[in-house]
Amino acid sequence: MKKLKENIYWVGANDWEVRYFHGYELSTHRGSTYNAFLIKDDKNVLIDTVWEPLTENFLERLKEVVDIKEIDYVVINHAEPDHSGALPVIMEYCPSATIIASKNGQESIKRHYHKEWNVKVVKTGDKINIGKNDMIFIEAPMLHWPDSMFTYLTGENILFSNDAFGQHFASSDIFNDEVDETEVYQEALKYYANILTPFSKLVLKKIDELKKLNVPVDMIAPSHGIIWRENPMRIVEKYYEWASGKSDNSVVIFYNSMWGATKKMAEHIGDGLDEVGVSYKIYNVATADKNDVITEIFKSKGVICGSSTVNNGILSSLTPVLEEMQGLKFTNKIGASFGSYGWSGESPKVLEEFLKKAKVEIIQENIKFKYVPNENELQECIDFGKSFGDKLLSEN
Ligand code: FEO
Repeated sequence: MKKLKENIYWVGANDWEVRYFHGYELSTHRGSTYNAFLIKDDKNVLIDTVWEPLTENFLERLKEVVDIKEIDYVVINHAEPDHSGALPVIMEYCPSATIIASKNGQESIKRHYHKEWNVKVVKTGDKINIGKNDMIFIEAPMLHWPDSMFTYLTGENILFSNDAFGQHFASSDIFNDEVDETEVYQEALKYYANILTPFSKLVLKKIDELKKLNVPVDMIAPSHGIIWRENPMRIVEKYYEWASGKSDNSVVIFYNSMWGATKKMAEHIGDGLDEVGVSYKIYNVATADKNDVITEIFKSKGVICGSSTVNNGILSSLTPVLEEMQGLKFTNKIGASFGSYGWSGESPKVLEEFLKKAKVEIIQENIKFKYVPNENELQECIDFGKSFGDKLLSEN
């Protein structure tokens, strides 16, 4: 039995196996957890549930600490199925329990489950007394769904933040001071880069709002992964930094290559960056994990992208990354493109168009060579990297 504090229990489920989320869109190399919490006060309160396939696991854990029939409130901070999937079963046990959700949450629950449950709608600042303590609600629309909200428990000073501040990280331990924090921060960053980036302005506003509330925070308990108990505000500061759009003076070179000529160009461009003191990483997107590449692009100021020309265009394995960059609305990035070709040679131009759509500023003319670059042309690739690196450094 895992406790956050006296009479506050973790009743969630570890998903050791999951390797993809949102269908097959997001990789989860370290598994995940669906965190749910049971508060025993004068009222019994369940905060969130779990994904439906793990319902049995969740019920077993819940039954260890409460008679499920005795649950008074079920707070649904966010109705995405990974957190509300076990709600129908819970409501069979305690049909007269009150579900608490935001206005958008009420609609979301209705559209997912089509049931006539008793839903109490709350808005920011609303308070519900549960005995010794109160629950205070803070709407967080678009972080990352319209229905998202946080629940703050007074007295115990716990912020139940749902997806915000979470990470896909399965673990037998539940607190950040019990695990390797490097791994946890890497997963938190990946989560932010791949899911929350489009909403960065709202993240900044929400954090400012939270700070103004000036309430003590002993713990931040998200709905995925580890609970922030030691120095809980550090992840909030990290979110502020990530949301501000600042990035490292580094470059991600991503490419795909049919016979190795574009790869050779990528490596020589990298040599040029290195010569002027700019760090870089190279990914062949045909074999690299898309979400890991996106995380690296999020961190880096520069993006250089290459493809062989095929069928008057680019190799199709590049498109998912370029599409993601567009949707995630990265800011303050600079870029350029390159590639080898046999006859028509459109790929660098096509890549530039993709980068522009992703709001990447193209800072230098693309470079392309017919079939296999010779020694002089490889030197031009090195110079291309040097020039890109110099421009990147001069922008700061
Ligand atoms: Fe973890 Fe937005 O669900």
